[in-house]
Amino acid sequence: MRTPIMAANWKMHKTVPETMAFLDTFMPLVRDLPQDREIIIAPPFTSLETVSRALLGRKNISVGAQNMHFEEQGAFTGEISPLMLSDLRVKWVILGHSERRHVFGEEDELIAKKITSALAHDIKPIFCIGETLEEREAGKTLDVLQSQLAAGLGNVSDERMADVVIAYEPVWAIGTGKTATPAQAQEAHEAVRAWVSQHFNSGIAEQIRILYGGSVKPGNVEELMALEDVDGALVGGAALDPESFAEIATCSI
Ligand code: 13P
Repeated sequence: MRTPIMAANWKMHKTVPETMAFLDTFMPLVRDLPQDREIIIAPPFTSLETVSRALLGRKNISVGAQNMHFEEQGAFTGEISPLMLSDLRVKWVILGHSERRHVFGEEDELIAKKITSALAHDIKPIFCIGETLEEREAGKTLDVLQSQLAAGLGNVSDERMADVVIAYEPVWAIGTGKTATPAQAQEAHEAVRAWVSQHFNSGIAEQIRILYGGSVKPGNVEELMALEDVDGALVGGAALDPESFAEIATCSI
């Protein structure tokens, strides 16, 4: 009912030649990708054009960016605008990633502006939320998720919600090799869907795709995908290797 999404977030990895080498191996491995699944590759800005070009004509594999400024242009040194992304046929943008929040100090208000701007430019946001270990241990996980959802999606209309994907990425599971247990992941995803139902409506909640991220690998992806409210994965480290990401992308669901 909800088309699963397997997304690669390469973070600050791969030069253009390395991107080309990845694609040379990866593309043949996903030639017979099941139609009922979407793949997204989010390389650094410098490799967007290379990935975008390689994916021309592939309906269910598309390119995403890892960040975006909310303005179309202006004196914002070092930033990239939605127009620049659209120009490169970028269909998705990861917003509110934990590294943007915790390493670069992005706050809820800025992330909300980016989400609104992405939607206005027909770029679909993959909106990331997640609690720190400290917040989990203090029993605040669901409160944190609800407050991030409210801040990020407060200005989004019912119609636009169809283009939003939410990624639950517990901060303590990112790049640590520690994955949330199936029970922890399901609890969080279920709470996110319940929040969407309450603040939008049950139809939107049924349709919205909620991805899990945090140490997803070929060995644990099927267990996560079997959970009722997990609709896909946002993969960092294990998406850098073409064979490993192809295994994740084609896993049985
Ligand atoms: P890892 O898969 O390396 O834990 O990274 C997850 C992530 O942050 C994806 O956005």
